Parts: sequence; C-alpha cells; structure tokens
Amino acid sequence: MVCLGNICRSPLAHGIMEHLSVQEGLNWEIDSAGTSGWHNGEQPDRRSIEVAKQNGIEISNQQSRQIKAPDFDYYDYIFAMDQSNLKDILSICPKDKEHKVHLFLPFGNVVSRHEVPDPYYTGGFDYVYDLIYGCCKNIAEKIR
Ligand code: 4NP
Repeated sequence: MVCLGNICRSPLAHGIMEHLSVQEGLNWEIDSAGTSGWHNGEQPDRRSIEVAKQNGIEISNQQSRQIKAPDFDYYDYIFAMDQSNLKDILSICPKDKEHKVHLFLPFGNVVSRHEVPDPYYTGGFDYVYDLIYGCCKNIAEKIR
C-alpha cells in the first residue's frame, strides 16, 4: 500500500488489509510505504491512528518508510492511493514488474472515485477510512 508520506492513507490501507487478512485466514503479508521519505521512521499521523482505533484496528506500531527497489521483487501487488503516487511508483519500477502496480480504488471496483483523497491538510479521515475499508474488502475477495 503506497501513498506520498506513508503516514495517513497507506497506513490505514495496511492496517485494514492486515486485519481482513487475519480475519479471513488468508495469511498474506501486507506492508506500506511512501513515495517520499519525508516521514521516515515516524508513526502514522495521529488522526489515522485515531480513526483506525475507533474501528478496532491498531496501527500505532507502524513506521513510515520509503518504497525501495526490492519491494518490486518481493510483493505480488503494489497499490497506489492516487495518480501521482502511481506515476512516481512507475518511474522507479522495473519494466518487467509493472504488471504488479495498480491504482488502488479501481482495482477494488470502487466506482465513486479513482483516487483516495489526501487528508493530510484537509482532514476527512472518517471518509478516507470508509473508502479504504470498502476497497480492501473487495480486493480481499478478488485476490483470494
Ligand atoms: P499521505 O499524506 O500521503 O496519505 O501519508 C501526506 C502526508 C504528509 C504530507 C503529504 C501527504 N506532507 O506534505 O508532509
């Protein structure tokens, strides 16, 4: 799960998908990263921690990191939260791994919009949580 800072959106996607994976006995390995390294080593934003906690998911143990070359080998699916993230990911992705990279919401058949809005400056963490949750549910069904 990849966004810009790896402190707001992708930590939610990471926590939610991990939660669903455990719940459904899928034994998947989930991780998240940022296209930037601006918040390397930091916890998720307190507003993401809070909305996750309200929904019974603990994400405070996550640490922000930047996406790196070995991720393209290791992971089967790489999801970008918005078009800008997608472009940045593809700019460092080896050609033979491009098939692993997807825009998150369309892959999860969410039709209301194509990008997860960045709530860092504007807020709207409850909306972002619900959007990501619905998409993760669909992706869990689709990939399993
Ligand atoms: P995220 O949100 O990409 O969902 O983690 C952001 C976090 C930090 C910044 C921008 C977006 N920032 O400008 O520091």
